[in-house]
Amino acid sequence: MNSGEILLSARGLSHSFDCTLFENLNIDIYQNQSIAILGVSGSGKSTLLHILSTLLKPNSGEILYKGRKLYSRDRDELIDIRRNEFGIIFQSHYLFKGFSVKENLEISSIISEQEIDYDLLKAFNIEQTLHQNVSSLSGGQQQRVSIARVMLKKPKLIFADELTGNLDRESADMVMDVMVHYVRENSAGLFVVTHDQQVAKRCDIIYRLNNKQLEVVKG
Ligand SMILES: Nc1ncnc2c1ncn2[C@@H]1O[C@H](COP(=O)(O)OP(=O)(O)O)[C@@H](O)[C@H]1O
Ligand SMILES: [Mg+2]
Repeated sequence: MNSGEILLSARGLSHSFDCTLFENLNIDIYQNQSIAILGVSGSGKSTLLHILSTLLKPNSGEILYKGRKLYSRDRDELIDIRRNEFGIIFQSHYLFKGFSVKENLEISSIISEQEIDYDLLKAFNIEQTLHQNVSSLSGGQQQRVSIARVMLKKPKLIFADELTGNLDRESADMVMDVMVHYVRENSAGLFVVTHDQQVAKRCDIIYRLNNKQLEVVKG
């Protein structure tokens, strides 16, 4: 079902903090592909997302991105990749409080040199909030603005940690529809960490992080 090229390939990933979170994990992310990671709280899902998305060097293992090892690149190169090629959506969103929705989007638009995509705002049902201060929005609206802000960069790979945590069922489904559609339209890849089975079901592949391994649930 996947006709795309490989975007990112991880081999033999191991990582520990106080105890070992995972050992010898392999994972590939292809173009046009969405991958969900399920797992109980504390199993290491967020840590795995940080490792794959340039934020944390694993204790051992390699990640190949565009045919080169991610963590053998220097700091500036990693920052460039994070800024221009990866879109990372965190569990708690980091909008600039005191600024309007439009201003928040404009900052991202200037940095990434991409136009604000008003169709995306419409799809996320936030186009009517453009001139409101972000602090006046509901948690769910703020989360959708922060997702839109990341997608506006047109990332090649999107990493999302509990993407739909603040969203009701209907909004969560709508956001997932937009993301999965984006991935197919832009030959991008999507990696989501979630505890929501419904969110996971919308992805092409589902893994569960359990007993320090990735078990295939679907794919
Ligand atoms: N920077 C860190 N320093 C020490 N321990 C950490 C750090 N980040 C995460 N941990 C620990 O690693 C475990 C897995 O965390 P995490 O990856 O956030 O799991 P999940 O996202 O599946 O809930 C937890 O026990 C957490 O306390
Ligand atoms: Mg987590």
